[in-house]
Amino acid sequence: MTDTAVQWPARQERVLSDPLFDPLSEAVLADPYPAYVRMRDHARVYWHDQLNSWVLTGHAECQEVLRDSDRFGTDFRRIGIATPPTLLSLQTLDPPDHTPLRHLGLATMRTLDLPAIEAALSGIATERLGGLLDRGSFDFVADFSDWFTMAAITAVLGVTPPTEDETFHRLNRELDASMDSGVDAELEGPGLRARQHFNALVESWLDDPPPGGAIEYLAEHQQEGGVEKAVLVNSIRAFFHAGFEVPSRFLGNAVAALIRQPAAMAALLHGAPIDPAVEELVRFGGPVHALSRACTQDTTLGGTPIERGQIVIAMIGAGDRDPLAFPDPDVLHLDRDPNPHLGFGRGSHSCLGSMVGRLEARVVLSVLTSRNALLRLDGEPVVRPSATLRGLRNLPVARA
Ligand code: HEM
Repeated sequence: MTDTAVQWPARQERVLSDPLFDPLSEAVLADPYPAYVRMRDHARVYWHDQLNSWVLTGHAECQEVLRDSDRFGTDFRRIGIATPPTLLSLQTLDPPDHTPLRHLGLATMRTLDLPAIEAALSGIATERLGGLLDRGSFDFVADFSDWFTMAAITAVLGVTPPTEDETFHRLNRELDASMDSGVDAELEGPGLRARQHFNALVESWLDDPPPGGAIEYLAEHQQEGGVEKAVLVNSIRAFFHAGFEVPSRFLGNAVAALIRQPAAMAALLHGAPIDPAVEELVRFGGPVHALSRACTQDTTLGGTPIERGQIVIAMIGAGDRDPLAFPDPDVLHLDRDPNPHLGFGRGSHSCLGSMVGRLEARVVLSVLTSRNALLRLDGEPVVRPSATLRGLRNLPVARA
């Protein structure tokens, strides 16, 4: 989802002064949920003057938008907004252009031997996380989840993990930051250059596909469905980037949430079933907060008229805390049922890697429970400065 999110609409002034929601202010970065409540209390379909967009904080409204790509598209060209060629991908095209890419993606996912991947990831997580737990105190994100999710996505693709030198980290930071380029237009250029760098990596994989992973299948089937090569490369880049960045932010949020809600942590260590716990952690701490869509026809949403050409931002992070959809929304109930969260999106662009994201979370929670690892904070968590993909850069923890 890391390409659609760049489409925060541009704003005129550098300093946002909306009284209810300033997405990158220090307070909102630290905890966006009070701002979501303020907006929802004011209007579930909230016009944000400076973002020049409708901001949706209700579950029903977010879901309606994500499910209807006729009225609300990810392809902003449908309302006359140009998309740089580097951003034309699975994530930014709507049906019917999106359909062959989506089919190729789904077919690729079906070739994966997920139980074997889970077993392999379980082995490496047990070793790495086990070693860190033995050490007593460590940074869950920097020492573990960033590394683990890169190991997972490269295993899925069947490629060797890239060298994570200073250049890699800088480019990745620039790509991440550009997801908020609508809030700060200067972030866009470096983000596009970073994407081109990652594209070169993807092209090198496709030119000489290693055996046994998703890249081999994609290289063999790349001619199918008439997908343009450049768009395919952009899509694989988006898949790769989403594949390490999003789950690492999720795992950090999940562990931080468990530490802050000791009753849930205790329930997990006392044998609460892991699969529903993963769903609840995605609802509660899913890192993807904002998905932009272009309204392609005059319509209404929750009774509010929306005009063709306007932009709506489905704040799924807010929708997943909407009390109309989730009783007691700010508390983790690991056995919540039903749990119709939007953390993996909905509709034609819903997460292609959700099985992999869930599998990674299962593996990590299983290691923590098998080691009876009651954790506590061992310092202040450091938040990444992103309004789109909310998560932690550092999460210092220790055994309680
Ligand atoms: C817990 C982890 C994850 C979360 C919370 C998550 C969340 C999301 C969300 C909300 C979307 C919808 C974007 C939209 O509607 O515009 C999405 C799409 C996507 N995700 Fe994930 N994701 C996760 C893990 C992954 C992984 C591991 C991969 C790759 C293996 C992946 C690949 C993708 C791709 C390619 C799309 C775009 C699909 C399309 O546009 O057709 N995600 N994800």
